[in-house]
Amino acid sequence: MQVPAEDRVKIFDTTLRDGEQSPGASMNLEEKVQMAEVLAQLNVDVIECGFPASSEGDFAAVRAIADSVDGPTLAGLSRCRRDDIARTELALRGAKRNRAHIFLATSEIHRTYKLRMNRGEVLQCLRDGLTLARDLFDEVEFSAEDAARTEPDFLAEAVYEAIEAGARVINIPDTVGYAVPHQFGNLIRYLRAKVPNINKAVLSVHCHNDLGLAVANSLAAIEAGARQVECTINGIGERAGNCSLEELVMALKTRRDYYGTDTGINTQNLVYASTMLTRITGLAVSRNKAVVGVNAFAHEAGIHQHGVLMHPSTYEIMRPEDVGRAGNSMVLGKHSGRHAFHYWMEERDIHCTEMQFEEAFNAFKRLCDQKKEPQEHELLAIVRDIVHTAGHTSPVLANVSLRGV
Ligand code: KIV
Ligand code: ZN
Repeated sequence: MQVPAEDRVKIFDTTLRDGEQSPGASMNLEEKVQMAEVLAQLNVDVIECGFPASSEGDFAAVRAIADSVDGPTLAGLSRCRRDDIARTELALRGAKRNRAHIFLATSEIHRTYKLRMNRGEVLQCLRDGLTLARDLFDEVEFSAEDAARTEPDFLAEAVYEAIEAGARVINIPDTVGYAVPHQFGNLIRYLRAKVPNINKAVLSVHCHNDLGLAVANSLAAIEAGARQVECTINGIGERAGNCSLEELVMALKTRRDYYGTDTGINTQNLVYASTMLTRITGLAVSRNKAVVGVNAFAHEAGIHQHGVLMHPSTYEIMRPEDVGRAGNSMVLGKHSGRHAFHYWMEERDIHCTEMQFEEAFNAFKRLCDQKKEPQEHELLAIVRDIVHTAGHTSPVLANVSLRGV
């Protein structure tokens, strides 16, 4: 059964803005447009295209995306300043549906050391900026920067004022990745209980990964009622990155029984989106990265391989096809057992006697003790040695050369 649209979690992708703030992740205009198209195919709800007032290059890229990419709402980040807001509006004018994403810090640390504003000045500044923006954009989102470290009573006041001034999406960022799940969920509950006009807005979260908790914090916020999550492909972003889109989306899909909600993401495009981003930025994901890493559906241990060969549900909680992988893989290595080795031979149409099989399996184990990752041609060479001498004629083995082994 489909989750009703109003209950679904909206995915606000910020790969092209916060993601691009990762050291080594900068993209040129063409690359940003290409990546925006990948995100549109993924069916994200909002693409944050960039920060138009931050540079001429960012302005041009946001404009190019706004003029050419269809589907999602297109957003631009803006400081809470008249000139930034005007620049953002100009860059996004071509979009079918645009959104100003206006941020202003609310925490005491930021008010004191960065903004040099008191509470009253912060509230006045956000009122002025949002009132201006509401007449210029289809949608206005307000982010209380460093919300997770803001005094809750002042945060509630700022959120109330932002909604009064016209914001219809209220984003609660954990800017420095300081929050922990239970506490962050409670902050969302507190805002829902204390802010009288909260039902006029969608609550959103934007979590950084400094303690490795960005996905967990975002999920805790969803449990508490947040219905937009800001995230990035492969979790790239400032410092340790942002909430990883693929992990969050697959957590909601896989555990819909628990969360009772889902996203509108075409999950079969996840591996493609991850690969495209790596290709464009050169930032590789680790092999064991959840959902999109090459090891995410690879099994090496004998007991696991046996289980998966009997039924994938023994050791897989997601289907590889659902994230865009062709299938799982049985990696032959030092922990593999007879079942997987036999399966590997069968897949290659290699048949032999029981004795030959034992001999080949023992040779394979000896090879594994010498090499971390035996290669396909090395495995074939072992089997060829044993099976071929016995007059076997498998087409796979016929093409195996022993040179270089
Ligand atoms: O981390 C943060 O607070 C941000 C805001 C601009 C949303 O990126
Ligand atoms: Zn951020």
